[in-house]
Amino acid sequence: MPAAGFVAPGGVEFEARITPYVIITCIMAASGGLMFGYDIGISGGVTSMNDFLEKFFPVVYRKKNEIQDNNTYCKYDNQGLQLFTSSLYLAGLIATFFASYTTRVWGRKPTMLIAGILFLIGVVLNAVAQDLAMLIIGRIMLGCGVGFANQAVPLFLSEIAPTRIRGGLNILFQLNITIGILFANLVNYGTEKITPWGWRLSLGLAAIPALLLTVGSIFIVETPNSLIERGLLEEGRVVLRKIRGTDNVDPEFNELVEASRIAASVKHPFRNLLKRRNRPQLIITMCLQFFQQFTGINAIMFYAPVLFQTLGFKNDASLYSSVITGAVNVVSTLVSIYSVDKVGRRVLLLEAGVQIFVSQVIIGILLATGLKEDEDISKGMAIVIVLMVCTFVSAFAWSWGPLAWLIPSETFPLETRSAGQSVTVCVNLFFTFVIAQAFLSMLCHFKYGIFLFFAGLVLIMSTFVLFLLPETKNVPIEEMTEKVWRQHWLWKKYVTDSDLIDDEDGDAYANQETGKDNVKAYHNSQL
Ligand code: BGC
Repeated sequence: MPAAGFVAPGGVEFEARITPYVIITCIMAASGGLMFGYDIGISGGVTSMNDFLEKFFPVVYRKKNEIQDNNTYCKYDNQGLQLFTSSLYLAGLIATFFASYTTRVWGRKPTMLIAGILFLIGVVLNAVAQDLAMLIIGRIMLGCGVGFANQAVPLFLSEIAPTRIRGGLNILFQLNITIGILFANLVNYGTEKITPWGWRLSLGLAAIPALLLTVGSIFIVETPNSLIERGLLEEGRVVLRKIRGTDNVDPEFNELVEASRIAASVKHPFRNLLKRRNRPQLIITMCLQFFQQFTGINAIMFYAPVLFQTLGFKNDASLYSSVITGAVNVVSTLVSIYSVDKVGRRVLLLEAGVQIFVSQVIIGILLATGLKEDEDISKGMAIVIVLMVCTFVSAFAWSWGPLAWLIPSETFPLETRSAGQSVTVCVNLFFTFVIAQAFLSMLCHFKYGIFLFFAGLVLIMSTFVLFLLPETKNVPIEEMTEKVWRQHWLWKKYVTDSDLIDDEDGDAYANQETGKDNVKAYHNSQL
């Protein structure tokens, strides 16, 4: 592949090729994202399968099959059933704290290996589960795997990829999540017909992405950033040569060494995060994660088959409807990759706000007027509902899906970068857990109103975007303060000169001012 020189924001030209190592990295990203996506997509189908319910949740099974209860909103309302889905995200959330330690102290590569192994243990426990305890412990192990993988894989990717493809790779990870979800939907569609052990196959096939990650993490290289951070300078230089496909790596190497020195001088990253000058990014990150989950997307991703059955679809129809929404999710993510740097983040989020609002209100109204307690749903109405769900999913996939991950990754400055990333992952998994645990109960109590509830929240989040989320398209990270925060009617109050200087922990910040090029290189290396 041709060598490509590119100008780094620091003004230094680094040489880099798209080498085989970089290609292997993409495959790694695929397996990390696939693993996460597969988990998101598999549980809904499995929890709608009769054999599975009869074995682990007999109460739900009986409720589901009582004819007179056919169309009620409450047939899946069971805390244990929701715990089956949600336990994974709670475990993932807790694992993130350990993963941030192993990622820093042991490196990215061992952390990914740990992720793969934990995940494989979870897969085995799930596939051979004899009782609910085994099932839930298996889910917890899977969650730990996801926590470790989600911390290490994106970091690994951003460090190993040449700068010019870093932004695209960020959304590529999301694309792989959506492919994982679709793969899981397809598997469920096939295994539902295999009775009585189809669900075991569904849960067991999660081993495919997990094996890819485990085996992959044995063969890949450690990132130069991690080696240098841990004092292994020469090893770092060798790896840099390998992945860049050239011997001329000194400029990049020197910048990495300097960036790692600066990063090491930040004594209290989490305390730093709470400083006034970091308030805009912190608030925006937390809101983005909260809003992403409260679009209601995971009501669809986790529970689409259950939801469609609740609405009166037959087993088969509900599973293939989930396949359709899964495919729409993948294709629409491609739209985002193509347009995010052209039309910008705000346009995508605002357009999606309108689209999500309209589709949810239509679903709510249709259900309120058309769904009768003891009748099957009409064919016409079923089609309109699936269409509206697709409209919703597509809007999410080019907006809140990738952008809730992308925007925090491009706004946190050096001093709070890794702490900021941990907060992003934790807040996301926390709200994912909340939705997984609460959705079926909310559906039972709010009935069709659940969609109006989400629609109301979409109005709030769009207002947030309109007034509080500045555009970050094409702004170099090191210029965020000047070009973004200082230009914003509200956030500029948090980045006054005295906010920027007043810093008892501020070695790093002072260094940023005097050694901007180094900081630029560090930002660069982190994205
Ligand atoms: C979200 C997941 C969601 C997925 C759907 C991701 O960005 O974090 O919770 O299930 O998108 O594609």
